[in-house]
Amino acid sequence: MFRSETALWLGVISVLPEMFDALAAQGVTGRAVQTGRVILHRFNPRDFVVDGYRRIDDRPYGGGPGMVMMAEPLQAAIRAAKTQAALDGWHEVPVLCMSPQGRVLKQADVQAMARQQAFIVLCGRYEGIDERLLAKEVDAEWSIGDYVVSGGELPAMVLLDALIRLQDQVLGDADSADQDSFSHGLLDCPHYTRPPDWEGLDVPEVLRSGDHAAIARWRFEQQCERTRQRRPDLWDEWRKMTGR
Ligand SMILES: C[S@@+](CC[C@H](N)C(=O)[O-])C[C@H]1O[C@@H](n2cnc3c(N)ncnc32)[C@H](O)[C@@H]1O
Repeated sequence: MFRSETALWLGVISVLPEMFDALAAQGVTGRAVQTGRVILHRFNPRDFVVDGYRRIDDRPYGGGPGMVMMAEPLQAAIRAAKTQAALDGWHEVPVLCMSPQGRVLKQADVQAMARQQAFIVLCGRYEGIDERLLAKEVDAEWSIGDYVVSGGELPAMVLLDALIRLQDQVLGDADSADQDSFSHGLLDCPHYTRPPDWEGLDVPEVLRSGDHAAIARWRFEQQCERTRQRRPDLWDEWRKMTGR
């Protein structure tokens, strides 16, 4: 993939593009968009339909409940997104589709994706998308977990938030993603802030000791213990990976 600058370029394809206002306007992701660190374009498949009804769905062949998103308007929206990407200086941009049938997203996948600088993300609705569109236009399908939500917009925002926060200069040192759960295979340690005594519960003494080596040791032990107790699957993987 060729890129003309260091921003992350995102094109989302959705029949509810306003849902991405939350991503574009609020918090860490909002700041990244507003400062130009992230370029976010939205494409509504309805804008690419020629009939007067702006219809993007139809009944499923074979019968059954619900409607299916039609291939044609989605393909036109993907082409428009690719054209926009090329105008902005990005070429060969992968098309990702959010789907409960996709590979379940892990932090390691997000870390790998964060090395690329442009994505088109397709959001399904209704019963899903005509399979032929997926076969012809989509490079990868991603799921946010083994449950079904009503549309691909929230899953897309989950993926995009996870990607955006890994971009350089998006998080300050204070909230570096490097300390987060999963970034090195373990869960994060517990955190405390003022007051030192709250409803009879105090803060572990070591965190108030000023002894940085002891604090780092305690935090690491807590990470290990939490992971072992809460996520034995991750703990086994981490032990294999590190030989501990
Ligand atoms: C109601 S769902 C369709 C579910 C589909 N009939 C199935 O059972 O696989 C509508 C859209 O929501 C999105 N979606 C729902 N759950 C998801 C998940 N766990 N991960 C990613 N996308 C999801 C997808 O874009 C999907 O096309």
